[in-house]
Amino acid sequence: MIKVAFYDTKAYDMPSFEHYGKLHDVEFKFLETKLNENTATLAKGCEAVCVFVNDAVNATVIQKLYEDGVKLIALRSAGYNNVDVRAAFEKIHVVHVPAYSPYAVAEHAMALLLTSVRRIHKAYNRTRDFNFSLNGLTGFDLHGKSVGVIGTGKIGMIFANICKGFGMNVLAYDKFPAKNAEINYVSLEKIFSDSDIISLHCPLTDETQHMINENAISKMKKGVVIVNTSRGALIDSEALLNGIKSRKIGAACLDVYEEEANIFFEDRSGHILNDELLSRLISMPNVIVTSHQAFLTEEALNNIAETTVNNIKSYFTNDGICDNELCYRCGQIERCKQERKQKCF
Ligand code: NAI
Repeated sequence: MIKVAFYDTKAYDMPSFEHYGKLHDVEFKFLETKLNENTATLAKGCEAVCVFVNDAVNATVIQKLYEDGVKLIALRSAGYNNVDVRAAFEKIHVVHVPAYSPYAVAEHAMALLLTSVRRIHKAYNRTRDFNFSLNGLTGFDLHGKSVGVIGTGKIGMIFANICKGFGMNVLAYDKFPAKNAEINYVSLEKIFSDSDIISLHCPLTDETQHMINENAISKMKKGVVIVNTSRGALIDSEALLNGIKSRKIGAACLDVYEEEANIFFEDRSGHILNDELLSRLISMPNVIVTSHQAFLTEEALNNIAETTVNNIKSYFTNDGICDNELCYRCGQIERCKQERKQKCF
């Protein structure tokens, strides 16, 4: 039996992980707490930890896990910006789930966009109150509008195709454009200046942090709709709020928020929200917030559990070799693993 400390457990995680764990002799110790400096010690006696997007896997945490004999950090997410991969190098191996349902996220991005531009969130509340007035519900057609897709990996490409299905004009920007893709790559500047809608699908890195800031917003069309299902810190939230207050930004659809770590995924109703910025954003009539929900489909949950268990099993029974290992050695975390057939270190 491979013992794994499973941090930040939610009720919806357990059935699929228990199922695949039993099939592959992986035993999960489900912990409600997030992984941080104070809770790392709960993994003592386990060979691996399984973490999610808001577990803080920084250098101190990694050192503590390493000293307690943990060999593997298994992310049950695609994004890994919360793990200091540099600090893990030569101490603990890190694996992730590169794809579990890119459709889930791309479809959620479109769901948010449609809800926003057709005011579905307002109509839903009105009709529940037997208010059948249409005043203030005027939307706009997506057909014929220009959508700027930033990041054309798995999710961005599916979102672009969905948009094409709506008859939208798709503009795309990617630092590493896909070869032979039938997509119109343009500069980031052109995305900002020409898009009616901008949807973010690139990872959070030092380079992309706050890529949507005051300067970027100043270059955008008046009334632009910004959709973020990627990572909160791609957007400078204060600049976003200012853009909304000045009417430059027409609407924002946010599944992620830069300070979400201690807020999202929990029931905070009945509490005073201490995050003024988030409170202000949520109070805006043209801002829709979902709490990092884009991945949450049955298909995705099953795929996440299956791949995570396979990653763990593969690492511990295949001489440490796992296709989904992240590494730091060459600095090309994602691209390197596609060519490598051995452990990172
Ligand atoms: P992916 O790795 O397939 O695609 C990312 C794309 O971004 C790649 O084409 C890459 O070349 C591009 N990129 C990298 N650096 C860039 C830069 N500086 N500027 C522009 N593009 C850049 O990743 P995938 O699966 O499409 O996921 C995208 C993001 O979605 C993830 O990084 C993750 O943060 C987020 N995500 C959010 C979820 C949610 O529930 N809200 C669930 C899953 C992923």
